[in-house]
Amino acid sequence: MAEDLNIVLGAKNDQYRSLIPQISSLLSGETDEIANMANVCAALKEQFDFFWVGFYMVKDNELVLGPFQGPVACTRIQKGKGVCGSSWDQEKILIVPDVDAFPGHIACSSASKSEIVIPINRNGRVIGVLDVDSKELNCFDQSDAVNLSTILELIQFKS
Ligand code: SME
Repeated sequence: MAEDLNIVLGAKNDQYRSLIPQISSLLSGETDEIANMANVCAALKEQFDFFWVGFYMVKDNELVLGPFQGPVACTRIQKGKGVCGSSWDQEKILIVPDVDAFPGHIACSSASKSEIVIPINRNGRVIGVLDVDSKELNCFDQSDAVNLSTILELIQFKS
């Protein structure tokens, strides 16, 4: 496809409905996971103007910062720490409507107000997480959980 996104405005589900086939097309034929993670971050940032979108990948039993869009961020997160480390530890999607109310939240930026973290499961284990932050409180819901999970399924991870 041409490397231009067609940005549709309107209801969140309509935005995902427009974006997902475009991401699918963007990733098709490309097997490099770094390239695909990078383009997923860029596409989500461009469509939704989220404050921060990025991946943390499990390396030597830590989460290490991967491709992202947004301000600089902490590079390593321990299992069970913060929203990302908790999502990895619990192996479940965490939706945090107010990060200040999440015990142990890691504030890479005070501008982030709400957050969703989706663990990436491959072959029965978590290999990383997708973290999306918003400057608005209560930005994320089940629709984001479902649609972001669908987007993650489009990335062929090595393991
Ligand atoms: N807030 C995350 C840390 C990563 S930054 O938001 C980019 C957490 O609590 O795990």
